[in-house]
Amino acid sequence: MVTSFLSAAFLLFFSGLIFLSIRRAGKARRSLPPGPNGLPVIGNVADMPSEKEWLTFAEWGRKWGGIVYVSLLGQPMIILNDSEIMDEFHKKSAIYSDRPVLQMGGELVGYSDTLVLLRYGERFRNYRKFIARFIEPISQHYPIIERESRKFLKRTLRKQEDVLGHLRMLMGGIIMQLTYGYEVQDSDPKGDPFINLIEHANSNFNKASTPGVFLVDVFPSLRFLPEWLPGMGFKKLARDWKKDTDAMVQVPYEYTKSQIRSGSTVRSFVSAGLQQDTKESVDLDFMASSLYGGGSDTTVSAEYAFILAMVLNPDVQKKAQAEIDSIVGTDRLPALNDRETLPYINAVVTEVLRWNSVAPTGVPHVASEDSQINGYFVPKGTIIIANLWQMLHNPETYPEPFDFDPERYIPAPGKETQPDPRKISFGFGRRVCPGQTLAEASLFACIAMSLAVFDFEKATDENGAPITPVHENTSGTISYPKPFKCVIKPRSPKSISLIQDIED
Ligand code: HEM
Repeated sequence: MVTSFLSAAFLLFFSGLIFLSIRRAGKARRSLPPGPNGLPVIGNVADMPSEKEWLTFAEWGRKWGGIVYVSLLGQPMIILNDSEIMDEFHKKSAIYSDRPVLQMGGELVGYSDTLVLLRYGERFRNYRKFIARFIEPISQHYPIIERESRKFLKRTLRKQEDVLGHLRMLMGGIIMQLTYGYEVQDSDPKGDPFINLIEHANSNFNKASTPGVFLVDVFPSLRFLPEWLPGMGFKKLARDWKKDTDAMVQVPYEYTKSQIRSGSTVRSFVSAGLQQDTKESVDLDFMASSLYGGGSDTTVSAEYAFILAMVLNPDVQKKAQAEIDSIVGTDRLPALNDRETLPYINAVVTEVLRWNSVAPTGVPHVASEDSQINGYFVPKGTIIIANLWQMLHNPETYPEPFDFDPERYIPAPGKETQPDPRKISFGFGRRVCPGQTLAEASLFACIAMSLAVFDFEKATDENGAPITPVHENTSGTISYPKPFKCVIKPRSPKSISLIQDIED
């Protein structure tokens, strides 16, 4: 009985797919963009790369052009390899700003209410408005960004081997303070309890949203089958993970509420939102939890890449330090108000965002209407992937794209500067990263302060020979430089005393 029910369900599903394929074949005559030939029904499923998809997508771009079409089990998908074509999508952003529905990670585990997965519409606009109103002007947040960055220097001096952990504490510290008015603690060797809670839920989400792992993502109707059926174990797992998601959203939010009740309110996204208490603040808990999810891994990846770039490019490092020494001097640390007077450091920040693609293929968008772009038909429901990595490493725009070269953006007589990559790194349309100014300010503070007091050098092996790290990125929506060894040394006794004077 159960088996025949399942067979009937599968049959229905497949006949649906065949119907869709026939319908789409009709639409194909309306000039879809070019792309690799697929197989009947499954389409291009077998062509899809399982890791570092940006490399395969870039290869398709070289073969088929800046806009490539594939079909996955009847689901249309477009890959953009060209920033000018991405601009076309940007111009019509009202119809290209929806997100795909993730069954396991989104609907079941509960991330569908966080901004990154929120469907386009009124609620989405409300989240974006609330967040923008809090983040801007970014200068109001300089004191928190600077204080956490100074603590990062102190932690690094104390234990340089743990620099990646310190970067996590740095960005976690900034976001938790801004969002909840909560100061992260580094006294507990097991880590900060709130950060642990959030990282744990985010790690569940990463597992839940790994393509190809959960059948329910392909067959959404499985959600509605009873749990005792074979293969339905995902339902229990989803319930457990959903509890972690709820804790991630509620525990820090309740912390801020209790702070307010006790009369010791620190200004934060949540405390400011609660004071407004309008109907728009109804989603405040989810809006707040969207900030850590969007801002932590991304900025940490960029800062880690900065260290790698310095180890690999000592000349750039020396030039950046010389700028700080001559403009800021050596008696104090650089501050965010020095930004305008440090063009080379700004160029280092910009080059970090190009050289190391934090989100190599961005976050998928979905077309909410049938449309035409560059003479091609884009069916409603098409998933749009922007291969940001390719756009940031296109040798026609950025010659020698794998070199780390901040001079690209520095004007000089008779030289044309290269386009600002930040227009690409932060995505496009109405989904463009809402944390861009916070990311850039945080990166600047970390980079300028670190260069003022530290030298980043190659580590040596047991024979004393220098180890040259390789710049290789991990797969995934957020990509990190693979872990590498380096040595971080204070530049001078004066640097040590500057760091030691930092308040805890
Ligand atoms: C180097 C740092 C960062 C990079 C490179 C980056 C990049 C991106 C990209 C490419 C997207 C997807 C845009 C699209 O869909 O087209 C995105 C979305 C997002 N980012 Fe960032 N980001 C960074 C830092 C931050 C920070 C600091 C925050 C907040 C505190 C943040 C919050 C978000 C959120 C909430 C979204 C989802 C927006 C939406 O779906 O409407 N990001 N970011």
